Amino acid sequence: MTRRLALGLLLGGVPRTWRQPWSRAKEVADLAFYADLARKAEAAKFDTLFLADTVATSERSPQPGLEPVTLLSALAAVTDHIGLIGSVSTSFTEPFNLARQIASLDQISGGRAGWNLVTSAWGGENFGIALPPHDERYAIATEYVQLVTALWESWDPGAIVADHDRNLFVDPARVHRVDWNSERFQVRGPLNVPRSPQGRPIIAQAGSSEAGKTLGAGYADLVFTTGLTELEPSRALYADLKQRAVAAGRRPESVKILPGVAPVIGSTDEEAHRIWSDSHEHFDFTASRASLAQQFGGVDFAGLDPDAPVPVERLPAEETVEGRRSRYGVLLHLIRTGQLRTVRDVVLYHASAAGHWFPIGSVERIADLLQERFEGGTADGFNFLGFFQDYPNGLEALTEHLVPELRRRGLVRTDYEHPTLRGNLGLTLS
Ligand SMILES: Cc1cc2nc3c(=O)[nH]c(=O)nc-3n(C[C@H](O)[C@H](O)[C@H](O)COP(=O)(O)O)c2cc1C
Repeated sequence: MTRRLALGLLLGGVPRTWRQPWSRAKEVADLAFYADLARKAEAAKFDTLFLADTVATSERSPQPGLEPVTLLSALAAVTDHIGLIGSVSTSFTEPFNLARQIASLDQISGGRAGWNLVTSAWGGENFGIALPPHDERYAIATEYVQLVTALWESWDPGAIVADHDRNLFVDPARVHRVDWNSERFQVRGPLNVPRSPQGRPIIAQAGSSEAGKTLGAGYADLVFTTGLTELEPSRALYADLKQRAVAAGRRPESVKILPGVAPVIGSTDEEAHRIWSDSHEHFDFTASRASLAQQFGGVDFAGLDPDAPVPVERLPAEETVEGRRSRYGVLLHLIRTGQLRTVRDVVLYHASAAGHWFPIGSVERIADLLQERFEGGTADGFNFLGFFQDYPNGLEALTEHLVPELRRRGLVRTDYEHPTLRGNLGLTLS
């Protein structure tokens, strides 16, 4: 079977250019806005929508949005084919609740649901807990995903027999207790939602520290990585994840690697660069600079001169950062190798793609770069980040220009081929 590029579209977040007259930022809590984006993504045959989630909010920089599973359930009713993947944190939700929410979304959508397994770096204050240390969060998540999978599989296919003659609605022989009894979790089961139309909802995972990679390679169907600017480290990350999957007894193609990417697209390279530099005029540099402390292990950027070199000596070692460790590692690498020199460079880089790769250029140039990565062993697809909202007609640049160009090159499907997300991704249960 021809290998096709998987396409994800990340929704959510307030665009930094919200002051532009064309910006739709004010619709951030409006279903009609998301429905419009979802329909456009579906018309372009994106495999899946992807909703990030952050529960760490503050009155100084509030980030309004909608809770992912609720929003995706509403979008299920206004779409027919596109996948619906929601981020839900293993740090803040009971496994039984998570399992039934995603299983319900899967039923509502006819087998198009997915769970993006995140462990979360911040937000414990809203749940009355202190987040466990980084690696402990991943140890919990590893057991958590096993338990959720067992709950999803506690119903065999066809368990609802609705047999009038035997007066039997559900066949008890096809529904199983889970009896999970560990120090962390005690769950009897079975789940109270029948078996998924796609066998099991899709599991995605985000977070590429050592522990994150082992978790993703061991259990995820899709791994959402931070898209790296440089080609070679991207290739190494891809190979590492595939090798870990094989070590976990899986086929390498059963784990798809989707780096995040936030391309800035124009009809020519010059136009794309102009679109990007114009966007700088419309965002709040001071607030962006202040918000870096969270990503940079608490180092305060707020008082630093924008044109001064980044104080490398004050930045902590990657392995000591308890928050978003792998993303921090990406930024640290770019600073140490001189690719980001000044405070302004870091602020603009972070504001343009939150540390992900953001190639700038014409439709053809971006298509060339994505093709190079897809064919060169660095990606099985891409998750297009919500930064498209920062540019005029940013979504249309993706759906009406870039994706058709990728299709013209035979890199993406011409249409949906299966009713389920798993089927469209070409994934089988493993
Ligand atoms: C690409 C990417 C996307 C993420 N999305 C979310 C998210 O939507 N919500 C969340 O709470 N955490 C999210 N995370 C955070 C991870 O779940 C994890 O808590 C954090 O990155 C620390 O893991 P790491 O050190 O393995 O990167 C994301 C991380 C990455 C790399």
